[in-house]
Amino acid sequence: MTDNNIHPIFERMLSKEDKEQFLNQKAKVLWFTGLSGSGKSTIALGLEKALHKKDFLTQVLDGDNVRTGINNNLGFSPEDRTENIRRIAEVSKLFLNCGIITINSFVSPTIAIRKQAKDIIGENNFIEIFIDTPLEICEQRDVKGLYKKARAGEIKDFTGINAPFEAPQNADLVIKTENKTIEESVNEVFNFIIDKIKSDL
Ligand code: ADX
Repeated sequence: MTDNNIHPIFERMLSKEDKEQFLNQKAKVLWFTGLSGSGKSTIALGLEKALHKKDFLTQVLDGDNVRTGINNNLGFSPEDRTENIRRIAEVSKLFLNCGIITINSFVSPTIAIRKQAKDIIGENNFIEIFIDTPLEICEQRDVKGLYKKARAGEIKDFTGINAPFEAPQNADLVIKTENKTIEESVNEVFNFIIDKIKSDL
């Protein structure tokens, strides 16, 4: 018996490899990080469509969606962001072990917060993709009108304005979206990951 009366049954469950074989793919977590308005979610959705067309099973997890459901009790303090990302990483691991390619779109603003996700998911299955769009451009686009509100002091702790964003130093892939179409950015990610998710069988 374990100290806390919890008895995990992981070793008796079907393995990731069993599920991958069933789905004819290799599962990874594609972790998109970048400022709000950088294009993360747009590229994630474009990628999901492109992969679906090629018969890959995927799941998109996105900050705005997850924060209305499983994480609807969390805000944007450093502690809440850490808990947000911890839960997402744990959920991603469930999808991963089910053989599903998980496409995550979260600001995940600090090196420590992304390391936490990588540690939970496991470095062999974690692919960090930096959607590198300069703050000026995100602010110009201001798709959700949030930068305007943050500048007006109506949102505190807004990433890039009055809360930090630490760019990844060793991302597996960096997409510079400036002067690129959405399709071009999606294709870049697609070409980078395709050999990593194809079944060897
Ligand atoms: S994270 O920092 O915890 O990773 P997450 O990706 O879940 O953030 O949520 C970011 C989204 O929440 C943004 O795209 C934006 O629409 C919205 N948002 C609302 N308030 C903030 C804030 N203070 N900082 C950043 N994003 C915010």
